[in-house]
Amino acid sequence: DAVELGKYRHYMQKEIFEQPQALANTLEPIAGAGAISPQIFGAEAVDVLKATRRVLILACGTSYHSGFTARYWLESVAKIPCTVEIASEYRYRESVPESDTLVVVISQSGETADTLAALKHAKSLGMTKTLAICNVPESAIVRESALRFITRAGPEIGVASTKAFTTQLAALALLTLALAKINGRLSAEQEAGYLTQMRHLPVAVGKVLELEPEIEKWAQRFAGKHHALFLGRGSHWPIAMEGALKLKEISYIHAESYAAGELKHGPLALVDKEMPVIAVAPADELLEKLKSNLQEVRARGGELYVFADAGSEIAESEGVHILHMPEHYGMLSPILHVIPLQLLSYHAALVKGTDVDKPRNLAKSVTVE
Ligand code: G6P
Repeated sequence: DAVELGKYRHYMQKEIFEQPQALANTLEPIAGAGAISPQIFGAEAVDVLKATRRVLILACGTSYHSGFTARYWLESVAKIPCTVEIASEYRYRESVPESDTLVVVISQSGETADTLAALKHAKSLGMTKTLAICNVPESAIVRESALRFITRAGPEIGVASTKAFTTQLAALALLTLALAKINGRLSAEQEAGYLTQMRHLPVAVGKVLELEPEIEKWAQRFAGKHHALFLGRGSHWPIAMEGALKLKEISYIHAESYAAGELKHGPLALVDKEMPVIAVAPADELLEKLKSNLQEVRARGGELYVFADAGSEIAESEGVHILHMPEHYGMLSPILHVIPLQLLSYHAALVKGTDVDKPRNLAKSVTVE
């Protein structure tokens, strides 16, 4: 391979640790800027974003999870209605097109057959305002889109996507801010605050990566399990989904994710001491609700592994393991919270001895249906 492994054992590990640099590169358009400029999405972006009344996000796999996270941002910060749909479903269902929609397609490779077909389908329905968020500049999906934002994650070799995901989130955060600004939803002070936070992101991610030795210990306890349940709420529900996907993909442990409030409507029946439950617990407005969901798990003997922001006051006790993340990182918190989940699945796979970079039955880019 042209890309060297260097000091790393696997490409996936290397790519996880490249995230601070990948984010810094992707956020380069705002590096020296005092304000967010819609032109980072293309020359015609100002007019397109001004006319946008709703957003439809289409993607597959990990890219679908970044889109799902962005839905929370777009509705809460930019106040734009947003739907997110799996590309393979969208392309074959009868839907109701709205011409004031911005269609956002997200893809690491830019070649995923279902995503490309979904984009063409949306266009055939008259939705011509399209934006590709993609890691490969000359790809089919980019060529097919009116606007584009190229993530600068660099080549991603590991089949399980990591740095592509976090850079997609960075791009989607920029889109959220651009739309918020154009719609008069962002004060100059808020804009400056978000930009400062975004510029600090590579350092913040670097700090989370330092948790690796502790996560490695957790992974030892996981590797012997057959099932795992990932819980999150709000914009961290898609992060729980991504955590479950990563674990399935490379360690072959069956993992499911749930919005924590849904526990009582089914998955609680599965919880016993053999079922590790991983909780994504940012110190946000839903924390108290999440804590009571976790008590429900504990009461059924479930072993909890909680990624909690400092200050969230969830105490270690028997069957409750806590790893402390840095302070709550506001809107961008999902970008930090996915990092330990990537590391957890990587180390669980190492313990199990699977082919981390090339998991069975999976392809890096699915260019056929
Ligand atoms: C495959 C890969 C996933 C990826 C998905 C979408 O299934 O194994 O890691 O998330 O395709 O790929 P894309 O290139 O469109 O983001």
